Amino acid sequence: MSGIDKSKEKWWKRAVIYQIYPRSFCDSNGDGIGDLKGILSKLDYLENLGIDAIWLSPVCKSPQDDNGYDISDYQDIDPMFGNLDDMERLIAEAKKHGISIVMDLVLNHSSDEHPWFLEAKKSKDNPYHDYYVWRDGKEGIYPNDMRACFGGSAWEWVPEIGQYYFHQFSVKQPDLNWDNPKVRREIYDMINWWIDKGVEGFRLDVIDQIAKEPDNHITGNGPRLHEFLRELSKETFQRANLVTVGEAWGADTERAKLYSDPAGSELSMVFQFEHICLDQLPGQEKWDLAPLPFLKLKEVFARWQKELYGKGWNSLFWNNHDLPRIVSRWGNDQKYRVESAKMFAILLHGLQGTPYIYQGEELGMTNVTSFEIEDYRDIETLNMYRERLEKGYSKEDIMTSLHKKSRDNARTPMQWDASDNAGFTTGTPWIQVNPNYKEINVVNQVNDEDSIFACYKKLIALRKEYDVFVDGDFELLAPENEKVFTYVRTYNGEQLLVICNFYGDTTENPVAEKVDSTMKLLCSNYSECSDSQILRPYEARMYFKK
Ligand code: GLC
Ligand code: CA
Repeated sequence: MSGIDKSKEKWWKRAVIYQIYPRSFCDSNGDGIGDLKGILSKLDYLENLGIDAIWLSPVCKSPQDDNGYDISDYQDIDPMFGNLDDMERLIAEAKKHGISIVMDLVLNHSSDEHPWFLEAKKSKDNPYHDYYVWRDGKEGIYPNDMRACFGGSAWEWVPEIGQYYFHQFSVKQPDLNWDNPKVRREIYDMINWWIDKGVEGFRLDVIDQIAKEPDNHITGNGPRLHEFLRELSKETFQRANLVTVGEAWGADTERAKLYSDPAGSELSMVFQFEHICLDQLPGQEKWDLAPLPFLKLKEVFARWQKELYGKGWNSLFWNNHDLPRIVSRWGNDQKYRVESAKMFAILLHGLQGTPYIYQGEELGMTNVTSFEIEDYRDIETLNMYRERLEKGYSKEDIMTSLHKKSRDNARTPMQWDASDNAGFTTGTPWIQVNPNYKEINVVNQVNDEDSIFACYKKLIALRKEYDVFVDGDFELLAPENEKVFTYVRTYNGEQLLVICNFYGDTTENPVAEKVDSTMKLLCSNYSECSDSQILRPYEARMYFKK
């Protein structure tokens, strides 16, 4: 059992949350697609790892244009994943393992196959018309030049009624109109229905985009955003002691303090992406590869740690279903895969906030570089490929970007064992497994004390054991050092010192003088501790003293 008392207020401060991308986690019936029964069969594995909650990417009914982020019924499960009974069983069984279920709420848009939208596009005076965002216009002359995140115009023409609807994502994801109080009421009722079913938290998809004002070219951080969130929270989340995390690409520390204000008027925390976007130059797209500015990375983490201390709460993550694998992105997924994967874990799990682990991260799963364009499934990837070819990019350039940044890097099946298809399915997987599954898999790691899995397990347990993880303040050490990320946290006489060599060469330990014999080594990524003056490639150490 996770060992967290979930009746306590803000239990999520001590929690570690594990993200499951259901399609790619475990397939129970051989159709090649992961499902709820598959997750049920892995609860023992997750309990052994020690996590406290599962953030489940969307499992509601969906045409799967964007892998479930296009929902056509918020109160039913997609048959591909199972049914409502399976979901209720998962909620109940997970609870027995000390694990809460955190559902993914996609509230910015629905599917174009949602009954609301089917009604809405029938006529301008249909009662559901106003559930979406419409503008008059003429075919071929868009209301304005706004672009959708997955390429193309953000406006789609509906000839039957002579209007355009607004979509920030694909054409199959029409934006919901939050200015309409009826929409908000429907959403609150739906959320309360899930809370009554025993769901103990929610992740809110692109929540900073709900208060759009397309006439003013506003997508993120619209003027009414925090008003909507406070109402949403009051009508739903505040009924129960839930964990809530909003996805907010446009959050800065000031906004994060509003979102996660300790009085609980909005959410528990947000995912912000300032660190994640550092290898992208201003004005460029994520596909335009750029090196990571390491000093900036340290500065960004330090700023978020300090600014939110006592005034908000951080979420901590390197990975999710939209991001490439961290060990391939900023680490070394060849010679130092194990060392660098553990270094990322130690660095992140020593910080203040709630850590999120994305499935397979605890094994050091890597990007997939064997994929040809035919092997990709992601709508963003496929649209980008087409657009860039048209713009004249070479196929080779595009493939380099995809191997580094495609969302499908995170979506290859979970690697359970060395059998066919990594034990993910007995059928043909919806997306190919990474060919490195014979080496990188659960069976190889779960009983090995030196594995990446063991390192994550230990870090999760430490967070439960020492208050300094939850409450300690933060000080960045050696901010100008170009190789080493090191910081110290203190709380009530406890001290936590983390030292990480971020690169693959041996380097001098800039804070060697801080390590004395009174310090206990809590966690590290080399088995014998060497000379404390020197850090080996990707060496990471976590010390504690009281
Ligand atoms: C979020 C999700 C992503 C999805 C998008 C549209 O960014 O994480 O997977 O494509 O929202 O719903
Ligand atoms: Ca299945």
